[in-house]
This record gives sequence, C-alpha cells and structure tokens, in this order.
Amino acid sequence: MRGLGFAALSLHVLLCLVNGAYSRRTSSYVRSEFPSTDMPLDSEWFATPKGYNAPQQVHITQGDYDGKAVIISWVTPSEPAPTQVFYSKEENRYDQKAQGTMTNYTFYDYKSGYIHHCLVEGLEYNTKYYYKIGTGDSAREFWFQTPPAIDVDAPYTFGIIGDLGQTFNSLSTLQHYLKSGGESVLFVGDLSYADRYQHNDGIRWDSWGRFVERSTAYQPWIWNSGNHEIEYRPDLV
Ligand SMILES: *[C@@H]1O[C@H](CO)[C@@H](O)[C@H](O)[C@H]1NC(C)=O
Repeated sequence: MRGLGFAALSLHVLLCLVNGAYSRRTSSYVRSEFPSTDMPLDSEWFATPKGYNAPQQVHITQGDYDGKAVIISWVTPSEPAPTQVFYSKEENRYDQKAQGTMTNYTFYDYKSGYIHHCLVEGLEYNTKYYYKIGTGDSAREFWFQTPPAIDVDAPYTFGIIGDLGQTFNSLSTLQHYLKSGGESVLFVGDLSYADRYQHNDGIRWDSWGRFVERSTAYQPWIWNSGNHEIEYRPDLV
C-alpha cells in the first residue's frame, strides 16, 4: 500500500471469526518486514502445472450475493481451450457442467495467456464440490466448500490479506494462512507487485497467480484493488 519500498508490507492482518467461546478471535501472526527478498522466477512456488496447455493460476471468487455460486477462473498459457468446468458433490464424478467465456489481451510487450471465467451457480450451502478443468493429460482437479446459509451466528473463519507480493515473506504469510483454517480471503489490495519490476512485462502477474493458486483454487478470494494495480505506460516511466 505504501508507495515506498516493496518490503514495507504494511497490512497483513489475519482475522478469524469463529463461534461460541472463540468468537471474534484474531490470529497473532505478524509478518516480518525485512529482509524481503523476491522469490526467483524459477522458484518451485511458481512452478507451472504438468501437461501441455494445462490450466494454471486457478482461482475462485464468490459468484453471487448469497454464497450459492462461485466464479472459477484460470489461464491456458499456450492456446485457446474450452471454458468448461465439470463438477459434482461426489469425488471423481463430474456429472455437472458449466460453460464460461475466454478472453486475452496485449499490454505493450506482454501477451496474456487465454483467460477463462466460468460461473457455477445453483449450489447448496455448506457443501463440498469437486471440480475439474482442462482435458486429457492436462486436466486438473480441485474442490471448494460453499459457505453456511446466511445467519448472523453462522460460524465462519476468514482471512484478511493485503500487500501480499511474491517475496519469501509473502510465502510465509501464505503458508501461515493455509494452516489457519480460513475459509475465504478478503484481499484488501496490492496483489502481485508486478508494477515493481522493470518494464512491468506482466510475467510477475502470472507467477503470482501460480503462487496463490494453492489457496485460491480451493476457496473464494474476494478482491479489492490497490495502488499497485495501476499499470502505467512503460514508455512514460
Ligand atoms: C488473442 O489471441 C488470438 C489467438 O491466439 C490472437 O490472434 C490475438 O492477437 C490475441 N488478442 C490480443 C488482444 O492479444
């Protein structure tokens, strides 16, 4: 959020709300600020999935106001592919299908992969769904859990994360969150810090998408944008 210094990661609050005796408990995690070293692009945490054109950067967000729909998004890096999600409440069944839309864009030297968005709706509350995207050897399988029915007393644990970036401290934050039992994330802005890289060639957006996939493919992250989401014309900076 701060203009100065990627390492000055100001907000990394993790807030957990649970029922009963533990209501409104907040995690004590404090992320260290320094040193804040970038994970290299060939880091295992940015690894691309196996298989030609395999879906990557898989992420879910809430798809309606009630918690009975999700939007599942992913990127096929090499070529266009069907925007289809196969899903079911039973593992390995995938007898339901949702169809979405695909887009791609160019920004100066950067050419995006093929970005897929698919709305999956009419879901039941408090239910685990399994889903599959991609085809053949490149298919990938994930799952997510829908929230409880709307009720002020419904137990729910969620994280608030901001300024995540892609340093080793970012990794520590994400690993901490993964262990917390959080069921969704409110992301308060400043996602990848891709704007911090020379020429802002977009590659660090893709690495970040692969980095957070270990959480975002399995639960909704609800996004807010920050100042680091502003892309300037590279020929002017
Ligand atoms: C989108 O992908 C198509 C097919 O590969 C390509 O011809 C087109 O130039 C791309 N569009 C943009 C805006 O990059």
